[in-house]
Amino acid sequence: MIGPLNPPVTNWHGKRVWLIGASSGIGAALAQTLLEAGAWVTVSARRQETLQHVAQPYAHAHVVAFDAADLNAWPEAFERTLAAMGHVDLVVFGAARYDPTHSWELNLDQVQKSFDLNVVAIYKGVSLLVPYFLKRGEGGLAVIASISAYTGLPKAVIYGATKAALNNMAQTLYFELEPKGLSVYLINPGFVETPMTAVNDFAMPGLMKPFDAAKAIVAGFERGDFEVRFPRGFAGSLRWISFLADRFRFPLLHKITKL
Ligand SMILES: NC(=O)c1ccc[n+]([C@@H]2O[C@H](COP(=O)([O-])OP(=O)(O)OC[C@H]3O[C@@H](n4cnc5c(N)ncnc54)[C@H](OP(=O)(O)O)[C@@H]3O)[C@@H](O)[C@H]2O)c1
Repeated sequence: MIGPLNPPVTNWHGKRVWLIGASSGIGAALAQTLLEAGAWVTVSARRQETLQHVAQPYAHAHVVAFDAADLNAWPEAFERTLAAMGHVDLVVFGAARYDPTHSWELNLDQVQKSFDLNVVAIYKGVSLLVPYFLKRGEGGLAVIASISAYTGLPKAVIYGATKAALNNMAQTLYFELEPKGLSVYLINPGFVETPMTAVNDFAMPGLMKPFDAAKAIVAGFERGDFEVRFPRGFAGSLRWISFLADRFRFPLLHKITKL
């Protein structure tokens, strides 16, 4: 089929967007980009003061601080978001943790916490938002995963697995919900210079600034993409490598990562 996979967003003016994971990095830059474009945005994360800092310059920005890993906190956060904006058109799930870990140094507490926040919390959000959007007959769900979902990579034994789960989840959400009139987006960033990647002690190919990442995400919404991957060159190369037969892919990845 030719044509966009989601209806292109042509006008942000007055769109109600709930951004979860928006106190820093990509989420904060996305909030500011959408607010500048005329959207109403509720920013969520744990740190109230940092969220206030993001929202403070804008009349149509609201703050709802909550811990997304606490599943019991979601219903109230959703209610407060609805109370602040009247309704929600698009939700972006971006809260995550990153525990770079080799396979021989696994810590089960980190595994549990990563899956709780990066995956289970999103199921919780989806379980609240999908019935709401279906009742309204429209709405968009955007899941921020990562290009580390494409293939096994060094130190990604936890993080990459959580993001691979999201890649699969988003495909099913799209498959089932697009025919019912909802939009579903899978956002797969490469390396972006944020507090999350500040811990990396290796060269990050294609490293982007958060506002460039935000621009790429907004452009994806506006084109009506399903998967929004960036930066084009690095993300495209990793995608291509992921299609190689195992016997070629693993040696190539060892060569590239020097590990
Ligand atoms: N940076 C990259 O290179 C890169 C690459 C691929 C994918 N991503 C993905 O992009 C998304 C944003 O990451 P980022 O790089 O912008 O990192 P970041 O600056 O560390 O942002 C993470 C956000 O998640 C929030 N958060 C963390 N734990 C939370 C919790 N329990 N409840 C609610 N919010 C929580 C943080 O705020 P609080 O601490 O205030 O709660 C923060 O706003 C993540 O899903 C990440 O996996 C990033």
